[in-house]
Amino acid sequence: MLVLFKENISLRPYNTFHIDVSAKRFVTIRTLEDIQGIIKKGHILRRTLVIGGGSNILFTQDYPGLVVYNRIGGITLFKEEGDKVILDVGSGVTWDRFVQYCVDHGYYGAENLSYIPGTVGAAPIQNIGAYGAQVSDIILSITGVDFRTGTKRIFLREDCDFGYRRSIFQLAPDTYLNTSVRFRLSTQPTLNTSYPALANELKKIKNPGPEDVRNAVIRIRRRKLPDPEQRGNAGSFFKNPFVEHSLWESLIKEFPEMPYHKYEDDKFKIPAAWLIEQCGWKGKQRGQCATWPSQPLVIVNLGKATGEEILDFARDIQKSVKKRFNILLAPEVRIV
Ligand code: EPU
Repeated sequence: MLVLFKENISLRPYNTFHIDVSAKRFVTIRTLEDIQGIIKKGHILRRTLVIGGGSNILFTQDYPGLVVYNRIGGITLFKEEGDKVILDVGSGVTWDRFVQYCVDHGYYGAENLSYIPGTVGAAPIQNIGAYGAQVSDIILSITGVDFRTGTKRIFLREDCDFGYRRSIFQLAPDTYLNTSVRFRLSTQPTLNTSYPALANELKKIKNPGPEDVRNAVIRIRRRKLPDPEQRGNAGSFFKNPFVEHSLWESLIKEFPEMPYHKYEDDKFKIPAAWLIEQCGWKGKQRGQCATWPSQPLVIVNLGKATGEEILDFARDIQKSVKKRFNILLAPEVRIV
């Protein structure tokens, strides 16, 4: 199919922070053949960026290369294996449309990840997670195309080095374009409702099913998180930090009320939202930037913020947390 290149177009409609920068070149792709054709004809520039939903990116300047807007669609049933189904899903499919599809068809395992913005192809890159589940729990493999050669490569789940908000794809971003993701889901509901906020939301429902889980997650997210349509944002701006035993010990002496989660390797995960709140940043506004009042881990664009202003605001939050707790918060959002 013919693909159309555009020059110097605004990326504002393509990022959920609503930052108004422009891309030197821009192309929309809808099939695997589209991207292979572009590579073969030598259209890939030294700087090439793939975007899906644009929901985990902060643009701080005009993009001087090619932006590939990924709209590769399709959800197909590859096979059934006992009480499991294997689905191949185009990387440009909207993530929540896929979750809705699964719940509608009685395929379970994705429902805790309801209502997360973004696309199927972007989900494994940061290994999206919420309410006790991570996308790596249900991924079997990912098919990608190498930008330099146009060759296809299949990454098995074991090859992806998945961890908390981590995958191999972050090591060399924009080397591969994920074209499809293969998922394994269950036809038997196996609910995972131990995450405290979710358990609490489901308290009133007798024998909840996966649809109830999806609806509960949607209600919590709507209550706690800003709608990017109304307030530009990219979800959690920072990752929750892990600290060593010695730092945890000194902090808990000083702040006995500090929430934390202990892991087997003697690492402690501390909610970044708590650290940010303690430093006085909850609900704070500066110019066109603010932290969200019910979840200060989310930074919002009040309308006309530039990417640089948001980055400065985030850096000042980082500095406060470092000074008070000796913890360096790492951005979860990709800064370009
Ligand atoms: N907290 C505060 N003050 C607040 C809000 C929260 O101190 O104003 C503390 C509380 O102790 C609370 C804890 O932070 O128990 C955790 O809060 P929450 O359950 O909202 O989760 P989170 O750790 O802040 C993570 C993900 C979210 C995901 C939620 C729910 C990261 C970086 N973020 O946030 O993901 O929706 O858990 O599972 O891991 C995203 O990645 O964009 C995102 C929104």
